Amino acid sequence: MSLLEVSGLKMYYQTREGPVHAVDGISFTLEKGEILGLAGESGSGKSSIALTLLRLLPSNAQVLEGTVRLDGREIMTLSEEKLRREIRWKRISLISQAAMNALNPVFRVGDQIKEAILAHSDIDKDTAELKVKDLLTEVGIPPDRYSSYPHELSGGMKQRSIIAMALSLDPDIVIADEPTTALDVIVQAQILVLLRNLQRSKRMAMILITHDLSLVAEMCDEVAIIYGGEVVEYASASKIFHNPKHPYTIGLIKAFPNIVAKKSRLISIPGSPPDLIHLPVGCRFAPRCPYATSKCKSEKPELLEVEPSHLARCWYASDMHL
Ligand SMILES: Nc1ncnc2c1ncn2[C@@H]1O[C@H](COP(=O)(O)OP(=O)(O)OP(=O)(O)O)[C@@H](O)[C@H]1O
Ligand code: SF4
Ligand SMILES: [Mg+2]
Repeated sequence: MSLLEVSGLKMYYQTREGPVHAVDGISFTLEKGEILGLAGESGSGKSSIALTLLRLLPSNAQVLEGTVRLDGREIMTLSEEKLRREIRWKRISLISQAAMNALNPVFRVGDQIKEAILAHSDIDKDTAELKVKDLLTEVGIPPDRYSSYPHELSGGMKQRSIIAMALSLDPDIVIADEPTTALDVIVQAQILVLLRNLQRSKRMAMILITHDLSLVAEMCDEVAIIYGGEVVEYASASKIFHNPKHPYTIGLIKAFPNIVAKKSRLISIPGSPPDLIHLPVGCRFAPRCPYATSKCKSEKPELLEVEPSHLARCWYASDMHL
């Protein structure tokens, strides 16, 4: 049994133009201590997957189907109260994409972390305060910064305190949604090293959401490439980078031959992502795919095993190579 098993997750956002099918049948598994990358270009549905897992979606969102099992226990059908008391923060925490802006400017940073701990556990205030100081030390912030207000901290320190908050209840899984995009390159690298060290020392599992392929190559064990609300390729990071089977992944890697280089590599190839309101009948990648045939335009490929533990959503996956 895997730590987390996500199966057939589907949700949409209701908009004036029609439903936006942001998550359209997503499945993956996460093992204890593993880092899974969810990688895809902007608008592919990555944050929506995270928000659906934790049911933190806005009011215009509707979850259609799917199961999410944590240690074999279905959590999609849990009441909001149970989810809040037993799962969020305690078992699965989220470093959200806009996390740095989520710090409340009028409260001291230490108190904000303390409140998060108090809201989700039974420990008393003094113990919580000591815990916050330990956490701050752990993420590389001097504990006397407990009393600082967010505007008194650098971007890197803000992000470190968000990480401290996400780890405050010793979760089994941390979902890190673009944890470094707002930071300059040097601070980005420091934060990533911090995240990885914490992940290892605490043996946490992590879902790393990013549109930066070099980050995936450096950090992840397994990778799901997301395109138009679907997984188009799913395998170990080494298979994804050395033997990709989906033309989208191949395009990305060819576009950036120096994939493991330190520079940030944004996921992008010519053309635009699919319209998630008016989805095409066939393969969603067909308009941008150099190998598209008439079959691709009329029949939708399923995500199938091309090689052992290597899935791809392409009619011709077994013929594809770098
Ligand atoms: N609240 C919302 N209402 C309507 N549509 C939304 C809403 N939030 C997201 N979407 C749409 O859902 C799709 C997926 O968005 P999502 O934010 O999950 O993508 P993403 O992969 O996280 O992108 P990015 O890399 O830019 O963060 C996009 O088409 C987006 O415009
Ligand atoms: S199914 Fe066809 S259009 Fe889609 S990725 Fe494969 S070759 Fe390209
Ligand atoms: Mg996002």
